[in-house]
Amino acid sequence: MGGTIAGLQVNGGGQGYLAGQVPIETLSEQIKCKLPIKNIQLSNIDSCDMTEALLSQLGQKMVEALQDPHIVGIVMTHGTDTMEETALFLELVCGYLAKAVGKKVIITGAMLPADHPEADGPDNLNKAVALVEDKGAPSGVFGVMGGKVFPARNMSKRHTSSIDTFVNSEALHLDQGRQPKDSTKVSEDLPIPSIDNWPRVEIVTNHIGAKGDQIEVYKKLGVQGIVLAGTGGGTVHHDLNAGLEAFMKDGGALVRSSRVGLGKIPSQLSNGRLSASLGAGDLNPPKARIALQLALFASLDAKANALSWQDIFARIVG
Ligand code: SIN
Repeated sequence: MGGTIAGLQVNGGGQGYLAGQVPIETLSEQIKCKLPIKNIQLSNIDSCDMTEALLSQLGQKMVEALQDPHIVGIVMTHGTDTMEETALFLELVCGYLAKAVGKKVIITGAMLPADHPEADGPDNLNKAVALVEDKGAPSGVFGVMGGKVFPARNMSKRHTSSIDTFVNSEALHLDQGRQPKDSTKVSEDLPIPSIDNWPRVEIVTNHIGAKGDQIEVYKKLGVQGIVLAGTGGGTVHHDLNAGLEAFMKDGGALVRSSRVGLGKIPSQLSNGRLSASLGAGDLNPPKARIALQLALFASLDAKANALSWQDIFARIVG
């Protein structure tokens, strides 16, 4: 997909680097692996430019690859900036299939560009491929970064420049033989929205002096859902609260998350605000946004047994 792992320095690094420059065929020459490798370049971008349309294409490709009997596992390169969103998306649309067919989808990237003398990409890529080859390791969707393996849902970028950028994300200790806990109660994969069918969901942040009048604009733009990046345990300023209450009264979907970064959101706020919203559990705002988009889309899907978006989102949160 691109990212820093496929990045190149500008003027010897003097002006930083550009992500998404090196083709996957070149990157995969670094892989030491006995199995034949099939390269697919779906995009080669800085992951700040990721789109829902690309997620749709990626999800379809993953499902095809998981169903292909000639493919034993998939390694995907991706920029770390939005890796956690793509990881959660894949977990929700093909994590169940991956476990059912006993295959792994491993997402990896890098914090230093490909031509940096201490580039971390080759090591991450080789560890990701080694994990695919490790028959004793659990199947499902995982991330590999900085020598650690993360269940997809646990990944959260927490440092702007450290090689250990997913610091504080709970890693999986394969050496202790621990299986990842199934944190979601979703018992099947969610449908993948087609390119033009993604519900529009926006993130609104609470802060000192937060206002609620921009919510009117979102309604006019056809926004169907809002994720509140609340303060503390998902709290909201009374002015913003008024705008969000009006949004829900008009049928908008609201989920409360927190801008804090660690910890869970209670199902209700003790001051009674936004009582018709759902708490995002341990999902941070960008991940809660993806989950809400998929829940809204699945609630329109005839095959989803007429579950409401609230039912589906609550199952994702587990
Ligand atoms: C990106 O997310 O594409 C750039 C940053 C990175 O990969 O670390």
